[in-house]
Amino acid sequence: MWIGAYLLCAFLWTSAPKWVTDLEPPSSAELCGDCHRAIEDGWKHSAHSQAVESRLFQDAMKMAEADFGASTRKTCLGCHSPIAVQIGDLKLIRKVSWEGVTCDYCHSIRSISMEGPNPRAHVEFSLVKSGPWKDVESSAHATEYSAVHTTSLVCAPCHEYRDALGFPVLSTYSEWKASSYAKAGVGCQSCHMYQVEGQVVDARVKQVAQHGINLHAMPGSHSIEQLNKALHTELVATHEGNRLRVIVKLSNRGAGHSVPTGSPLRKLILEVRANPYSGRAFRQERVFQRKIADPKGKVVELEPVAFVKSARLLSDTRIAANETRTETFDFLVPAGVLTQVEANLYYYYSPMATSEAQQQIKFFTIRRMVR
Ligand code: HEC
Ligand code: HEC
Ligand code: HEC
Ligand code: HEC
Ligand code: HEC
Repeated sequence: MWIGAYLLCAFLWTSAPKWVTDLEPPSSAELCGDCHRAIEDGWKHSAHSQAVESRLFQDAMKMAEADFGASTRKTCLGCHSPIAVQIGDLKLIRKVSWEGVTCDYCHSIRSISMEGPNPRAHVEFSLVKSGPWKDVESSAHATEYSAVHTTSLVCAPCHEYRDALGFPVLSTYSEWKASSYAKAGVGCQSCHMYQVEGQVVDARVKQVAQHGINLHAMPGSHSIEQLNKALHTELVATHEGNRLRVIVKLSNRGAGHSVPTGSPLRKLILEVRANPYSGRAFRQERVFQRKIADPKGKVVELEPVAFVKSARLLSDTRIAANETRTETFDFLVPAGVLTQVEANLYYYYSPMATSEAQQQIKFFTIRRMVR
């Protein structure tokens, strides 16, 4: 009898729609993924889902706490695990806090304020999920149309940032705002969250008209495809007397902001090699980046310092949206020597990366033979 009652309970438990009880906000992406499987798959491959778990971030946050005090943790987590800050879980005890920039954060954003030094999201955790659609229904949660989710504003709270010294550490949103893309109404989503095939909700949950889904992997500089979309490269090499001249034109044709954008430690590196069939080989490079100093004038070299103590811009050689840069390289190669000229583009991520592959990537090569 007792066993029977237990089995009955177990049966009811497994057959009841468990999400109705489990969807206590803020909830884990895993629960959202019960129904929104294709979207969860995309998000799992995003930098957002790794934003707090990544070794790189953990090391950087530890260093920031050691250098600038325990309260710095809250600053870092504000963007890397915004739910942890909202619910006061700064020790990262709850699973949802480890999910970084997760579903229930973005879909609990009700509005964005651009007043004050930094953009701010107004967030309400409840069983109402804000999204891009009007008139959709879900048995698991209420839905609310949110115009903000269809514009770049929803990205601004974390992709635009002045530190306590007033220095614009991240300016991706304002770079975009100043570009022709903003004027043409091409928002962040057009390039980072374009429509792909997939079911919004698993067919076993609800049969819905096929809308396609917005790609939640949000590929950026860790995608070779995106890096190649961003830049168009031309190379011209001429030999006059003992001077081999190489001209490389780099155009930012595909990014709606500077390349590189974001973290001040990102760099784009153009390397040109000249390998004559006889004689010595040559190499030169140009680096496109921001150089920033701390209040004492020391060049900022690590993320923990960059996000807290950036004070002054020393130089900015990044390539703005739609800008073309022409770089000239001269090599001393005797007249008439057949030479292979090669230009390589590297994207450099972080000095704190623990492996070569995490530190930089070669994403483009172009070669010419000149005599
Ligand atoms: C029991 C299944 C289920 C679960 C669990 C679930 N959803 Fe949904 N959700 C739906 C259905 C069904 C729709 C409506 C889809 C349609 O009609 O096209 C929907 C729609 C949405 C929308 C679109 C709203 C709009 O107006 O644009 C968002 C955003 C959303 N869900 C977010 C979430 C998040 C975040 C979670 C986890 C906290 C979650 N959902 C959990 C079933 C679910
Ligand atoms: C016209 C297309 C386009 C638009 C619009 C656009 N981006 Fe990008 N974005 C790209 C491309 C291409 C890259 C890859 C090149 C690079 O990393 O610089 C990129 C890279 C990035 C990166 C990676 C930077 C890093 O440090 O790793 C971030 C973050 C980013 N975009 C955020 C945004 C945000 C936020 C917006 C809106 C305010 C936006 N993008 C608008 C095309 C676009
Ligand atoms: C960084 C913020 C962000 C995160 C994290 C995020 N979303 Fe979204 N989501 C958006 C935005 C913005 C849109 C609307 C895009 C548009 O219409 O241009 C959207 C759209 C949706 C929609 C409507 C269907 C569609 O594809 O447009 C659903 C459902 C949804 N998200 C569920 C989820 C779930 C489930 C997760 C976690 C696995 C998640 N989202 C994580 C920002 C986010
Ligand atoms: C709650 C804060 C937050 C919001 C909102 C947010 N992001 Fe991010 N985003 C981050 C953080 C933090 C990272 C860096 C994660 C890491 O590498 O540790 C990131 C990284 C990225 C990257 C870099 C991916 C790569 O390849 O390295 C892109 C692209 C991006 N976000 C686009 C967007 C877009 C588009 C939106 C708006 C739809 C958005 N983000 C909204 C916090 C946010
Ligand atoms: C305003 C939001 C914001 C704050 C505050 C913030 N970050 Fe970030 N962080 C980002 C974004 C967005 C990216 C990456 C994408 C980019 O370059 O735009 C990033 C990238 C990083 C990276 C590089 C990760 C990678 O995968 O290459 C490290 C490390 C990092 N942050 C550490 C920190 C530390 C430590 C703090 C606190 C002292 C902090 N961040 C504060 C938004 C923020």
